[in-house]
Amino acid sequence: MVSVLVACGNAEGSAVPDLGPAPPPGPVAMAADENPRLLRRFRPLRRLELADGEQIALGKMLYFDTRLSGGRDLSCNSCHALDHLGIDSRAVSIGHNGRLGKRNAPTVYNTAQHIALFWDGRAADLEQQASSPILDPSEMAMLDARSVERTLRGIPGYVAAFGRAYPGEAIDLSHVARAIAAFERTLVTPSRWDRYLEGDHTALTKAEHAGLKLFADIGCVQCHTGELVGASMFQKVGVVERWPNQADQGRYVVTKLDADRMVFKVPSLRNVALTGPYFHDGSVKSLRTAIAMMAKHQLGTELTDEEVVSIETWLKTLDGTTVNVTAPALP
Ligand code: HEC
Ligand code: HEC
Repeated sequence: MVSVLVACGNAEGSAVPDLGPAPPPGPVAMAADENPRLLRRFRPLRRLELADGEQIALGKMLYFDTRLSGGRDLSCNSCHALDHLGIDSRAVSIGHNGRLGKRNAPTVYNTAQHIALFWDGRAADLEQQASSPILDPSEMAMLDARSVERTLRGIPGYVAAFGRAYPGEAIDLSHVARAIAAFERTLVTPSRWDRYLEGDHTALTKAEHAGLKLFADIGCVQCHTGELVGASMFQKVGVVERWPNQADQGRYVVTKLDADRMVFKVPSLRNVALTGPYFHDGSVKSLRTAIAMMAKHQLGTELTDEEVVSIETWLKTLDGTTVNVTAPALP
């Protein structure tokens, strides 16, 4: 196995969580389902502790409500469409007044378990994340908390819904964020891969096993690991070979540490076959190209077309079942 963790251990909270003992050096030789060491690098999706039903219902309405945007035309769902795996399928998002964003919109499914939110990890949790697009002048452009609060207090149905969800508490941006985060924690997508990890060894085909084994053998699993097959650490993109697009320096923008140049959160690969285009700049449309680029730039390996297809075949077992895809009635 290639050792690739050279970009680990950045300061400022870029810690790698303890995922248990690493497998011993040398290629993983046995079939995936017979190798407990390999499977220990992954976890099935956890059941998350959910908030009160009234809070979730309120969060769902807010998630779909375009009145939370300056132009009354954008909601969270505009860029993270829940009937479309929580993405907008664009390279970079289009925000307020048609303004082009700088980064690709990641899915909102399975985000509660991320080490941190955003490509550069600048938000610690979903609560902290949720208020930022509402205010962001190039996203929903409400600009200040007071205009959000004024809008919601002017809608009697919301006054009632906030009263049920947070009795006696203020209708303010922090409660908006709490409710949206409560809703987002329901957005998990269990898949065939979870059934396999839970012990159903018939859940994967032979070809899918082979792809998993290759993914582990060449070292993808060093970074894309754990419950989400990613989202558990920050790593440099272009560890072995320089990444083509250096315009966005990733975590460096947040920490201003040279060691964080081109460091991004390792994305989760759950639903990855359905959530292109890929990478922080959305520059790659095809999953196969993304896999080949990862092998080259992160591991210094050229994969054959067959090997790329094999890994893709396994990755498709991470396609999960989505929930909450339809918009609720809004007050
Ligand atoms: C105009 C499009 C747009 C809108 C509207 C929008 N987002 Fe996003 N969202 C993005 C983009 C682009 C990113 C990545 C930005 C970055 O990493 O710097 C993102 C990142 C996220 C993330 C982090 C995902 C991850 O993997 O780290 C979450 C969660 C999220 N948005 C939820 C929301 C919620 C909740 C709302 C509504 C309050 C919302 N978004 C509104 C475009 C949008
Ligand atoms: C050294 C750590 C590391 C290794 C090894 C690694 N990756 Fe990645 N991977 C990353 C990072 C960081 C990103 C985000 C890069 C970006 O967006 O600029 C990423 C992004 C991806 C993406 C795009 C996901 C998305 O939603 O945009 C895919 C697919 C992927 N990796 C698959 C693989 C495969 C397959 C391998 C093995 C051939 C692999 N990776 C090896 C760190 C790694």
